[in-house]
Amino acid sequence: MHILTNKKILLGVSGSVAAYRAPELARRLAEHGAEVRAVLTEGGAKLISPLLMQAVTGAPARSSLWDEAAEAAMSHIELARWADCIVIAPATANTIARLARGEASDLLGTLCLASNAPVLVAPAMNRNMWSNRATQENCAALRERGCVLVGPDHGQQACGDVGEGRMSAVPEIVEAVERSVGVSDQLAGQRVLITAGPTREPIDPVRFLSNRSTGTMGFELADAAARAGADVQLVTGPTSRSTPPGVERLDVVTAGEMLDAVMERAPDCHVFIACAAVSDYTPAHYSPKKLKRRESAQALELKPSPDILAGVARLPERPFLVGFAAETQQVEENARAKLEAKGVDMVVGNRVGEGRGFGDVETSARVVWEGGGRRIGKCTKPEMARQLIGLIAERCGLEKVTLLRTRSSAQ
Ligand code: C5P
Repeated sequence: MHILTNKKILLGVSGSVAAYRAPELARRLAEHGAEVRAVLTEGGAKLISPLLMQAVTGAPARSSLWDEAAEAAMSHIELARWADCIVIAPATANTIARLARGEASDLLGTLCLASNAPVLVAPAMNRNMWSNRATQENCAALRERGCVLVGPDHGQQACGDVGEGRMSAVPEIVEAVERSVGVSDQLAGQRVLITAGPTREPIDPVRFLSNRSTGTMGFELADAAARAGADVQLVTGPTSRSTPPGVERLDVVTAGEMLDAVMERAPDCHVFIACAAVSDYTPAHYSPKKLKRRESAQALELKPSPDILAGVARLPERPFLVGFAAETQQVEENARAKLEAKGVDMVVGNRVGEGRGFGDVETSARVVWEGGGRRIGKCTKPEMARQLIGLIAERCGLEKVTLLRTRSSAQ
């Protein structure tokens, strides 16, 4: 089931040229199973027809606070209560200013005031209007009240200018909606430790051994775990990813540094997810001086780097352990072998190679545990992370039950 299935999304459309993309946004949300209702401001209704919004959402679009028939069917207060999330896309400078002042002069403003649902705002305006201090202060006020701003993007604008102010792309807005409705309490009160990214094993001051990991999956897992209520610590190798909100991050470079950081924290954690692509080998000798180029072939002596996951598995009181198996073939068999070899509770097997696995690509997984497993079909990494966190929360619960039973039957 997709995270948006049966979620009720109120889509506010205000009067920017980017309103032409609102029907597409409504459609994408509906395709993921969301129930969408559109509310147009006066300007929004001048640019996009309510009938078109009705056709793509399957429900009449509203724009007036004083529409007797619409109010009789569902009052604006009921509509405000109905919404799981309000997304305003596009949001003009005027709409943002009115929201910042808390105006209830039209239906959309009233709904935003009357609703407890999260509000997402996707600004769209001329670059000078966007950079104007008045708009920036209004946006800061909205952020401060918990509104999420998505974008705007940089690029060619309807007025011919080039700059910041274009409405974000539809998939980005959909993802932001998914994130805002995806919060749960599946891992509330749990301490989750995650490793992410590659490690770098230095050869000399300028060269190192590393791999193609970008850290995307580990960072998405950290984000999903935090959204599920966990207290998340993320130990990461070098990556360009920004830290998800609410996550405590520790940057490391080598496998040795990652091991130290993990071993210090793991005993206090409930769940450890080893998602990092730790370099399997490290140069046996580090040269403090840059190695010179030679004409003859050179051999680089390597020694195995510490197995962090196996190290945590050996702790006397260990957390629930999740490992990853990036495989080019026989994903399930290799994942099962790793489950046994490393003595962990769950292994997530992914196929890598031929363009699969690294960065912002879609992925699928075979998740295995003792006596069972599950396949997660092809999806984006944020969606994969949410499903994995759900599964981990489920399995952790089962483990706890089994543990309690074992203890009580032993008494
Ligand atoms: O043995 P292999 O590298 O295939 O195992 C992959 C799993 O083990 C991943 O979860 C990875 O994060 C973890 N690992 C580790 N330390 C290593 C090597 C792998 O924690 N040195």
